[in-house]
Formats: sequence, structure tokens, C-alpha cells
Amino acid sequence: MADVTIEDNVALVTGASAGIGKATARALASEGADIALAARRRERLEEIADELESTFDAETLVVPTDVRDETAVEAMVETTVETFGRLDILVNNAGLGVGGDVEETTSEEYRLMMETNVDGVFFATQAAVPHLRETSGNLVFVGSFAGQYPRPTNPMYAATKWWVRGFAHSVEGQIGPDGIGVSVVNPTEVRTEFGSEEDDSFEERFEPEEVTEPEEIADAIVFAASQDRSTVHEIDLYRRDKFEGW
Ligand SMILES: NC(=O)c1ccc[n+]([C@@H]2O[C@H](COP(=O)([O-])OP(=O)(O)OC[C@H]3O[C@@H](n4cnc5c(N)ncnc54)[C@H](OP(=O)(O)O)[C@@H]3O)[C@@H](O)[C@H]2O)c1
Repeated sequence: MADVTIEDNVALVTGASAGIGKATARALASEGADIALAARRRERLEEIADELESTFDAETLVVPTDVRDETAVEAMVETTVETFGRLDILVNNAGLGVGGDVEETTSEEYRLMMETNVDGVFFATQAAVPHLRETSGNLVFVGSFAGQYPRPTNPMYAATKWWVRGFAHSVEGQIGPDGIGVSVVNPTEVRTEFGSEEDDSFEERFEPEEVTEPEEIADAIVFAASQDRSTVHEIDLYRRDKFEGW
């Protein structure tokens, strides 16, 4: 078995206040990593940080950040590096799923989606790469099944995730030679707060274990982030009945 330890690594997780990001912060901390938690809701992040410290003895940093704000994202990365002295793992996870029919999508919805799912991912990646180069670290993107196949019910969301995958794999080609691992993890439906901006959240829409649980995606992210030589190019972690009636 290859050496895949992340003990004492420093990981920065965006969208760490809920769902996949929260589960990922927990899973990374359980493996011995120190964690910088970023999202907009400070109180949530503080509660999660307290839990990670008391349960796993992890060092934590709460960095309230709106990923749409380039200056705030730069500060998020810089504060993390100033606090811990290094950055080994960035998990680009923060994202939203608003919108629907292309003709009914408002320009406000369009901008919100692009600024969060695309701009935020770009800003965080750009700020983190110099630090990941120093540690031969890992950059993990949360993509989506919607970024792999057409999504007739929400073309705009799908397109943001196609962008994430296209960007991630192209960046992989660019910075892989510098020793940085770049991975994309693609879930199908996961029981999180996803969708709550407009409707019931996925947590409310699906029964426990009916679809994927956030902890399962977190485990895939930890596997990708644990590599010290190879790149985990892409992991597709789907609900088993995803292709029923496809
Ligand atoms: N759940 C699914 O079925 C599913 C499937 C495929 C892919 N995904 C992807 O998984 C990722 C995580 O989503 P989730 O399912 O865990 O949903 P979630 O429970 O709603 O969590 C979303 C996270 O993103 C953060 N966020 C949203 N806008 C932000 C902003 N402007 N700045 C900083 N943080 C922001 C939220 O924190 P604050 O509100 O505190 O800022 C929250 O922590 C997303 O990229 C999503 O597209 C989800």
C-alpha cells in the first residue's frame, strides 16, 4: 500500500459550513489534517471548528469568505498560509444550484451562479497554486454528474460544472509537472442543503440512504487529497440507480 497519509497536512475547504464541505472538513480532520474552514456563515464555521478541535484534536481556522469576492478569496488563502505556515490541500467545493428553464432564468440568477461556481473556483485556485507548488500538494474540485451529461432541467448549473471539469483537467496539465495533484470528484444527488435556495433541500427531498450521503463524497475527496505522487484524475461517485430509466 502506498504512503497516503495526510497527517499534519493543512487543508482549506470552501463551502465548509454545510453538506459535502462540512463532511470533508471532518473526514480530513479525522485523518490528522489541520483545517481552514471557509464559507459565508461564520457561526456555523465556528461550531464545526469547535467540534473538529474537541473530537480530533485538529488545529482549525475559521475564515468567513464569500467566494465571489476576489479580494476576500485571496485573503482566505493568505490567512491560511500565515496561520499554519503552509497549504497542502485546497478543496474547491463551495457551490449553488439555482435556476432552471433557460428562458426564465434571470440575469441575477445567472450572475449568482457564475460568480459562485465559476469565479470563486478560479480565484481560489489562482491564489492557492503557488502554495500548493511548495508542498507538492493536492487540488480537489467538486464537480457533478451535471458537468458530465446534459442537464435539461438546469442548463446553467450544468454549464458551471462543465466549466469546473474543463478548468480542473486543463490546470492538471499545466501544474501536474510542478508536482501538484489535481482531482475532480463528481457526485450525483447527495443529501445536503443543496437546492434550499429555491425549494426543499436535498436533505429534505431524499430519505437517509436513498441517495449518496455527504460522508461518502468526503471519503472520495480524502482519497484524492491523500496522494503524494500520483493524481486521482476523476472520481464518479453515483447513486446506484442513477441510470434507471435513463
Ligand atoms: N448535493 C448534491 O446533490 C450535489 C451533487 C453534485 C455536486 N454538488 C456540488 O457539491 C458542492 C457542495 O454542495 P452541497 O451539496 O454540500 O450543498 P450545501 O449543503 O448547500 O453546501 C453548499 C456550501 O457552499 C457554501 N457557499 C455557497 N455560496 C457561497 C459563497 N458565495 N461563498 C462561500 N461559500 C458559499 C455554503 O456556505 P454558506 O452558505 O455559509 O456560504 C455551503 O457551505 C457544490 O459545488 C455542489 O454544486 C452537490
